[in-house]
Amino acid sequence: MIILGIETSCDETGVAIFDEEKGLLAHQLYSQIKLHADYGGVVPELASRDHVKKTIPLIKAALADANLTSDDIDGIAYTAGPGLVGALLVGATIGRSLAYAWDVPAVPVHHMEGHLLAPMLEDNAPAFPFVALLVSGGHTMMVDVKKIGEYRILGESVDDAAGEAFDKTAKLMGLDYPGGPLLSKLAEKGTKGRFVFPRPMTNRPGMDFSFSGLKTFAANTVRANDNDEQTRADIAYAFQEAVVDTLTIKCKRALKETGYKRLVIAGGVSANTSLRKELEATMKKVGGEVFYPRTEFCTDNGAMIAYAGMQRLKSGEKSDLSVTAKPRWPIDQLEPVNS
Ligand code: KG4
Ligand code: ZN
Repeated sequence: MIILGIETSCDETGVAIFDEEKGLLAHQLYSQIKLHADYGGVVPELASRDHVKKTIPLIKAALADANLTSDDIDGIAYTAGPGLVGALLVGATIGRSLAYAWDVPAVPVHHMEGHLLAPMLEDNAPAFPFVALLVSGGHTMMVDVKKIGEYRILGESVDDAAGEAFDKTAKLMGLDYPGGPLLSKLAEKGTKGRFVFPRPMTNRPGMDFSFSGLKTFAANTVRANDNDEQTRADIAYAFQEAVVDTLTIKCKRALKETGYKRLVIAGGVSANTSLRKELEATMKKVGGEVFYPRTEFCTDNGAMIAYAGMQRLKSGEKSDLSVTAKPRWPIDQLEPVNS
């Protein structure tokens, strides 16, 4: 079975072709970062228009890369939500229409399930069950993953997502959009201990998160100090340390509650080296293992959508001719995949 995956939920157009036997055959990605940079964030209407321009050329390029034609495609997976509704509608309409024209099934994929399953594209894929920490620009969630589609949310952010907190803090420090990776780079030169930020919601039980206070704390620290390069790096360090520490504390709780020894981190912030290091050290201590996607598949991409769609199509999931776009779509509403 060969699946074409299409991702257009936010500011990246991603297309990939996944073969059940041979694995990933091709993947194409176009990032709209430059388009939105002047505005300091994603402008939904511009995002939709750009997906309209890029999706079909990327599909053609992916087919050419894989040395395939449309006749070789057995199904199409497209991101149906959550995300920006206009952006979602582009990929959904193109995916559903091509599937109709090529006479193959189309499957609407949950974007966060795509992120959650992205580590499955690696050689060292985790076995089920595991705890998944999903940390992206739009969502922060701790999930008990029993199998594909059987998700229990253990905790989630009550305000900003982890990536959003990185981006907002980076913005107030004058860094370009999306600031997460830039802030993390700045933190590399920071001094430990000069500033100490709070670890939100760690002094009460549970696995929910709150990151908006950290952004305010960063704003106040910036205002109260000089703006030299070392001070900026020290503030970035303290912010990142607080986020990483908070996420680690919640992961430990999730592992304790579930009794699992496997931890998956996925979504844009899982590319953060400091977070990876800290969770690796933590898992080593408890005799467990942490799994994450290769860096390019931490952020949005078509490969994770093709993979997730393949699992659902293989299990016999069918969808009608409707074009599905759900800006809000809780992950625990998904149906378990028959295996
Ligand atoms: O998963 P993703 O591509 O998009 C959503 O589904 O939201 O995640 C993008 C987010 C952005 O907020 C970006 O700043 C953040 O991931 N990010 C990082 C790093 N790389 C990407 N945050 C911290 N450190 C990084 N290295
Ligand atoms: Zn994403």
